[in-house]
Amino acid sequence: MLIQIPELLNAAQLDKIHELLDQARFVDGRLTAGMAASKVKNNEELALDPELLQRLYRIIMASVGHSAVFRSAVLPAKVADFIFARYQPGMHYGDHVDDPIMGQGPKFRTDVSMTIFLNPPETYDGGELVIRTPFGEQQVKLPAGHAVVYPSASVHRVAEVGRGERLVALTWIQSFVRDAARRELLYELDQAREQLLRSDPQSDVAKNVDRSYVNLLRMWAEV
Ligand code: NI
Repeated sequence: MLIQIPELLNAAQLDKIHELLDQARFVDGRLTAGMAASKVKNNEELALDPELLQRLYRIIMASVGHSAVFRSAVLPAKVADFIFARYQPGMHYGDHVDDPIMGQGPKFRTDVSMTIFLNPPETYDGGELVIRTPFGEQQVKLPAGHAVVYPSASVHRVAEVGRGERLVALTWIQSFVRDAARRELLYELDQAREQLLRSDPQSDVAKNVDRSYVNLLRMWAEV
């Protein structure tokens, strides 16, 4: 399931991120790719600069942590440090699945991948994130500040950029619920629950749906 998170970052945050990235150095993205991915990867990533990365993480994590959609849809247990990737004209990233286990230091399993778009879509041609789903391919190219989350196990690619520059922030999340179908069910049930708790919190149906959600999450969560 693909879920869009509109306006995850606001204009002020985007300005600040661009200001920081404008002076930054980018390196060949193949340096961080696994064996299979390095054959199809052709992009650039922000060079390792711990101080700069800390400033960027602080800006982004403030929003990610507060996003109700992100929390409900992803059920995040561990969120990796962000990577900043840049695609200039001629660059792309061919079909691949993301590495199953990540982390220098403590390891975590990648259940959910997240892309935050940082440049307005009209400023570059191509650069769509193309995700294979059971219902066909879905192409995603969102306004700056919007994000998409999708199961890390799905085959995906980034279409070649023709003009301009595709700039994105990426991260991977270990979810409390590893199975994508279960996460989807919980997300839908949580939306119903939220609506009932808002409109009629004292009703039996609201209480029953709330209890069902909480106990399903307890049944499926791994901590
Ligand atoms: Ni990927």
